[in-house]
Amino acid sequence: VRVLAAIGVEMLLLTNAAGGISRRLRTGDFMVFTDHINFMGASPLRGTVPAGLERFVDLTAVYDAGLRRCLLRAGIKESIPVRQGVYVAVSGPNFETPAEIRAFARLGADAVGMSTVPEAIVARHMGMKVAGLSMLANVAAGVSDRTINHAEVLESATRINADLGIDRKSTRL
Ligand code: HPA
Repeated sequence: VRVLAAIGVEMLLLTNAAGGISRRLRTGDFMVFTDHINFMGASPLRGTVPAGLERFVDLTAVYDAGLRRCLLRAGIKESIPVRQGVYVAVSGPNFETPAEIRAFARLGADAVGMSTVPEAIVARHMGMKVAGLSMLANVAAGVSDRTINHAEVLESATRINADLGIDRKSTRL
């Protein structure tokens, strides 16, 4: 992310696969981040600060409102369901327990995953505009009576990509 900023990239769209916590979200939906909760137990800004950058970074508005509107409009135009919500990042690599997911729901999280937040924090540190977009590959632990396994998450992500006309070799719609 720092290299992208250094070569002049000003806007960053971060994408991931996530588990749906909110009952409003269905597998196959997309969720634009309104905000995040960092439960990774780490910040990418720990350690030495690159010269000329701030030590303490404001995260009041990590996800740019204009980019968010663009994504919502694109969803409407393409008839793809795009919701909005709060993403909680955990370190993994285990999936969560149902008790953890219930706790995250109470804290205001709509989707859970194991990535994206460190990149978003560094991008903000570098002054980039950031958007976050999750593809809901499964419902989170305990939200349904199904268990979660990685093979199914991958399979559902591949199927959702295929529905959108995306294959592994091409990221063009
Ligand atoms: N939990 C955490 N990370 C994930 C999940 C999940 O249910 N699905 C895809 N990434």
